[in-house]
Amino acid sequence: MNAQSLDPAIEAKVHDLLSQMTLEEKVGQMTQIDVSVVTVPQAQDSEQPFDIAKLEQAILQYHIGSILNAPATPDNKAQPIERWRSMTQLVRDTAAKSRLKIPVIYGIDAIHGATYTQDAVLFPQAINMAATFNRDLSFKEGEIAAREVKASGLDWNFSPVMDIGRQPLWPRLWETYGEDVYLASSLGTAFIEGHQGGDYSAADKAPACLKHYVGYSFPINGKDRTPAWIGERMLREYFLPGFEAGIKAGAMTIMVNSAEVDGIPGHANYQYLTTILRGELGFTGFTVSDWEDIVRLYTRDKMAASPREAVKIAVMAGVDMSMVPFNFSFYDLLLDLVRSGEVPVARIDEAVTRILRVKFASGLFDRQQPDLPVKGNFVTAEANAINRQAAEESIVLAKNHNNLLPLSKTTNILVTGPTANLLSVMNGGWTITWQGDQEQFYPQQKLTLLEAIRQKTKGKVTYVGGQRYQDEINIEQAVTEAQKHDVVVLALGENTYTETLGNLETLNLPFPQHQLARALFATGKPVILVTFGGRPRIITEIAEQAQAVVLGFLPGMEGGVAMADILFGDVNPSAKLPVSYPRNTNDIVLYDHKPIEAYETNQYRPLYPFAHGLSYTQFSSSGLQLEQSRIKRGEALHLSVDVTNTGKRRGKEAVLVYLHDVAASVTRPLKQLKAFQKVDLKPGETQTLHFELPAEAMSFIGVDMQRIIEPGEFKVMVGNQSAVFTVTE
Ligand code: BGC
Repeated sequence: MNAQSLDPAIEAKVHDLLSQMTLEEKVGQMTQIDVSVVTVPQAQDSEQPFDIAKLEQAILQYHIGSILNAPATPDNKAQPIERWRSMTQLVRDTAAKSRLKIPVIYGIDAIHGATYTQDAVLFPQAINMAATFNRDLSFKEGEIAAREVKASGLDWNFSPVMDIGRQPLWPRLWETYGEDVYLASSLGTAFIEGHQGGDYSAADKAPACLKHYVGYSFPINGKDRTPAWIGERMLREYFLPGFEAGIKAGAMTIMVNSAEVDGIPGHANYQYLTTILRGELGFTGFTVSDWEDIVRLYTRDKMAASPREAVKIAVMAGVDMSMVPFNFSFYDLLLDLVRSGEVPVARIDEAVTRILRVKFASGLFDRQQPDLPVKGNFVTAEANAINRQAAEESIVLAKNHNNLLPLSKTTNILVTGPTANLLSVMNGGWTITWQGDQEQFYPQQKLTLLEAIRQKTKGKVTYVGGQRYQDEINIEQAVTEAQKHDVVVLALGENTYTETLGNLETLNLPFPQHQLARALFATGKPVILVTFGGRPRIITEIAEQAQAVVLGFLPGMEGGVAMADILFGDVNPSAKLPVSYPRNTNDIVLYDHKPIEAYETNQYRPLYPFAHGLSYTQFSSSGLQLEQSRIKRGEALHLSVDVTNTGKRRGKEAVLVYLHDVAASVTRPLKQLKAFQKVDLKPGETQTLHFELPAEAMSFIGVDMQRIIEPGEFKVMVGNQSAVFTVTE
């Protein structure tokens, strides 16, 4: 067990406070409501949206422990920062009137920056952050997100998503760090470290929340909130390690899987929420339900016979706080369950201890005001610059036939396609609004791809397209214009979405996008395909005919500028795909596939493999050296490799180290990522990189479900180099 350590000073305070609390106060701590419960419906968009009587009722009478979300303006849109500060101040002041003055923890989805604070720095989404293969950027994103959340007076961030993105249809794929366990764990823990620092009671730090524990991301049919069937070995190999890493990195809150695994809803899963999370992973923080998911054990899953039984099942399984969120039913029902002896007080004390622990550790008891000034902490020049670098390093150059790219700024360019002139399509969900699709609320000073190209070419560009993603594009006009121009930038992809609203029946691109592409190819003009969107939609036919392909995914607010910088060569691309890009809708084979998936006629043949990504320069690796050719079981392996920029431009390169266990008692992937480093090299420059592969890199989940290391031969692969070593008893 690798328990998170406890701070005796905090434990003493928690103990003392708990001993003074009534049962009602305790059950209240476990209750989280949506802010709409305590606001005036007609006043959502006003300076002071609260209904004071309702706020006081929630905090003083129901003793609620937490509030979430932005006021329900049209689509819960982002609020000005000063408004947030006064709103959260009112919450603090109201809590200060309560008998024990226990602060309310205010949570928000700041998944790529402070989503619901107007003008906040909004980063590339997680899928793009993964494509940077740059831990430092993820760390800085965490720092900036925490700072902007705290400057808004908010306390707690429902981020990062530690689900592994192994089902490309899933509409939340882009909220993950991609298909690889090691990459996701690395980027996620870097985010947490930046967000929480060593001490998240600091004015500019805030607790992170790992979500959605566990197995949420792997619905068998690809639709959000539908069943996953994950055997224990697969769970332990692929889905648990990210959470384990997040817990080790100090995350103290975890949100529960909204769906079900192997027939057990996440919120009812004692084995996951208690046996594994507490017993094995040593998690000492608290778990929060996902949205309305406790009552859904009754209304949706038909597992509980009543809402009351649903509360009992969830609390006894290990859910510590309920995101109810629209009423106080959880409070009433849980109180009744404890009074009738069906839920022991000890379980309530356990949950409340965990919640108070996080509140103390977050410094909430010592903070009567948002003590982080807006000036110097919110939308700083430095944060914008880091965001831009993140966007630049997150865009994948997938194809560059005859080096068509970079373009010269004097080229006559036609820009067309449904994603060319929108900010929303580059940002995705959780941007200003939940679905991120309200283009009219986006900051006008940020540039779409079209606007950024226009700026670069001093206006030497023609646009054929609509105002909205849905607008039909006049193909005839696009063809006529293409004939008059040197090159076509064709921007395709998805509209924004998240959660169930993004469910899809096929990864194919909408037909009109194919029609537009076909008509443009027929002109014979070179086409550069640019894509935006959260999933690898099937582009094979188009990509094969395009001269160049640049995969943008969701690069955030600086995405337009970053994409243009790459198209014109002001930035040398360095991103690598964090997912395998499928060639066909049903050909979903991931990079870390088993030998049998590449046996006889089976093959891993995606359109672009995991970690694919071109540069305007070239890199080669050489001189792979293992410090040891034999190590004892449990020892680390040290290796080094030289990486050289053999091209003519300065560039960044992520060097990836893969491992293969040559023979094992459970079949092992043909290769699995175990380490990476990103370097910045001038033309002709060589750097020697040193890596340490810890013993766990050689481990796997054995026949008896325990993590083991088996003696035998292993193969290390870096670039086109490989070497073998032996693990001995
Ligand atoms: C989502 C979570 C989110 C929560 C609160 C849920 O619907 O699944 O990811 O944190 O809402 O907004």
